[in-house]
Amino acid sequence: MTDLDKRALRNAFGSFMTGVTVVTTLDADKAPIGFTANSFTSVSLDPPLLLISLAKSSSNLANFQAAEGFAVNILNEQQRDVANVFASRVEDRFAKVAWYRSPEGRPLLKDVCAWFDCSMHQQVEAGDHLLLIGRIKAFDQDLERDGLGYVRGAFYHPSLIERASASLRSDKPVSVSAVIDRGDKVYLEEEADGSLRLPRLPLNPGEGHPQAYRRLLGSLGLTASIGFLFSVYADSEGQRQTVAYRCVSEDGTPLDGRFYAQDEIDFERLADADTHFVLQRYFGEKSRGNYGVYFSNHVLNPGQA
Ligand SMILES: Cc1cc2nc3c(=O)[nH]c(=O)nc-3n(C[C@H](O)[C@H](O)[C@H](O)COP(=O)(O)O)c2cc1C
Repeated sequence: MTDLDKRALRNAFGSFMTGVTVVTTLDADKAPIGFTANSFTSVSLDPPLLLISLAKSSSNLANFQAAEGFAVNILNEQQRDVANVFASRVEDRFAKVAWYRSPEGRPLLKDVCAWFDCSMHQQVEAGDHLLLIGRIKAFDQDLERDGLGYVRGAFYHPSLIERASASLRSDKPVSVSAVIDRGDKVYLEEEADGSLRLPRLPLNPGEGHPQAYRRLLGSLGLTASIGFLFSVYADSEGQRQTVAYRCVSEDGTPLDGRFYAQDEIDFERLADADTHFVLQRYFGEKSRGNYGVYFSNHVLNPGQA
């Protein structure tokens, strides 16, 4: 498979929405180790089995291969930072989070939605991954917490999206807008007066967001995958309500505007404060390598987020 095919396949896999877990075990010195994984699958109730797929390229591979068991921690909506810690090269990941040991000694993270402590039931080689099948010895869940989500390379927070949508007034028009990125650049349009703005168009009555986005992207002449809800905002009277999604466009020449790197944008030329706010947040999150504070109510209902 060519590199391009692999990227396309990874993107297609990424359209399957998942939760996010941190999988932990002990190394040969009984020190805690762990990594972020969204490949969690429940497998069997009798016997109680679950599955995690570990990349063979992981620095943790040998430790998990040798482990007597492992624990799976299902992260809650507020634990995006935890997911980032356990997915990046941090010297001591456990120094950055609150954790304790299960009765079997394996590391469990605090405040998770649920955890499962497993003995190693089976390991299955599968291409460039190793499937770890665990037999559940103990588990618990916290019904008060909602899970963190992951789709198309981005975290999302289901209850924030719900609150954002609920904050829109149904008696006022809504526009859809998009932060479309390509590599390290973002798509902007130039107005007749020279100001720059994000593309947008009015949502038709009864129209769903996906249809509106297809219309918006079609009008720009771009092929793009629609990512996650990035921001919801309105002016103080709620007259101009905007829903902005993040989209990724790898191909196509736009009919009108163009893609700008951050240092090519004259922020003084941005059409309005909302565009300014959205772009600043976008580039800030991009430089930190994490996205996903999707609900920005910097104008609408302050204090609710
Ligand atoms: C949301 C998310 C899900 C991930 N899922 C998996 C996974 O299922 N299996 C895997 O091997 N790596 C997965 N990774 C990548 C690992 O977390 C990351 O590559 C690893 O922690 C890097 O450090 P390591 O080489 O020390 O393991 C995921 C990363 C993120 C951000």
